[in-house]
Amino acid sequence: MKNVEIHPEAVERIKKFSVTDANLGFGKYVCPIMVQAVYDKGEWQRFDLLPYASIPLDPCAKVLHYGQEIFEGMKVFRHPDDSIHMFRPEMNAKRFNFSARRMAMPELPEEQFLEACDVICAYAKNAVPRRLGESLYLRPFMIATEVGMGIKPAKQFLFVIIASPSGSYFSGDSVKVYIEREEIRSAHGGIGAAKTGGNYAASLNSYAKTIALGCDQTMWLDAFEHKYIEEMSGMNFMAVIDGEIHTPEIGDTILDGITRKSIIDIARAEGIKVNERKITIDEVLAATKEDRCVEAFLCGTAAVIAPVASFMDKDKTVVHLKEPNGKVGMRLREKLIDIQSGRAEAPKGWLYPVRNLNF
Ligand SMILES: Cc1ncc(COP(=O)(O)O)c(C=O)c1O
Repeated sequence: MKNVEIHPEAVERIKKFSVTDANLGFGKYVCPIMVQAVYDKGEWQRFDLLPYASIPLDPCAKVLHYGQEIFEGMKVFRHPDDSIHMFRPEMNAKRFNFSARRMAMPELPEEQFLEACDVICAYAKNAVPRRLGESLYLRPFMIATEVGMGIKPAKQFLFVIIASPSGSYFSGDSVKVYIEREEIRSAHGGIGAAKTGGNYAASLNSYAKTIALGCDQTMWLDAFEHKYIEEMSGMNFMAVIDGEIHTPEIGDTILDGITRKSIIDIARAEGIKVNERKITIDEVLAATKEDRCVEAFLCGTAAVIAPVASFMDKDKTVVHLKEPNGKVGMRLREKLIDIQSGRAEAPKGWLYPVRNLNF
């Protein structure tokens, strides 16, 4: 494993950084440091902690034309005793490498990924917010920097981690979901399970339609029959039907969410039955109309859990959930936030303590 070289200008910059805004928002503030690593000649060359700065890119860099890019999103929490903890970062490291393989990019050894995350967190410790529900959001990403117009996998890459002190992604208001019955996000054999920019680019046209219709989030259905629920553009989906949680099973078209996995574990530990299976949107709409499905929620790192208020269909008919701030989702949300922030005991291995450095 390579050590991260600490540049004194980066340390000076982060020492002077503070955010006093009571409303941190999501991605509104970014720490003035970043980790950067270069991949060339078949290996990772060096890792540096640098001042945050623009990335110089040749106009022929392959990422700009062919979208060879992957990223992760993860959170870091301050506990009541002031210690700092990353939440399940090994899972992000594994998913990053899964995405890298799918996009013909080099893997980053898991311990190297964790070391790089640990270093930026250790230096950004004063930027980890203090209030419950707030966190330092890490965004590791990798881009193809090789210059050339040929459509073939690049051989040179840049890995970067930036960090953003963040509040909650959602205001806590329940979310109006628009059911996308025409466009698709992902198909079998495609890239839907990888965390790569193309999936998000593919979602934006429908996002614009979703907002124009007064909704907040797009729900994607399967590409073949357009009837099975897959996920949202940046979150997984769960419905509570007859008191049990039902969530689409993970396959090669859905991002394997870490929040989803954690919620399933917490729910099962609390005695709630969780069914991972194929679910049609029509089944959920019918169960909602019959009040068998009284709540549904979306889950992901940024929002944790966002309850669903309603589903809007293609013909603009709207079906409302009876409990738009449902008990099950809110209880699981509270439990997960308590675990992340050190207020409840975490299952073994869920919290990764960040080293404490004096600088
Ligand atoms: C497409 C998509 N689905 C689901 C999720 C939720 O995944 P996680 O809980 O790991 O953040 C995300 C966010 O990362 C996402 O971008």
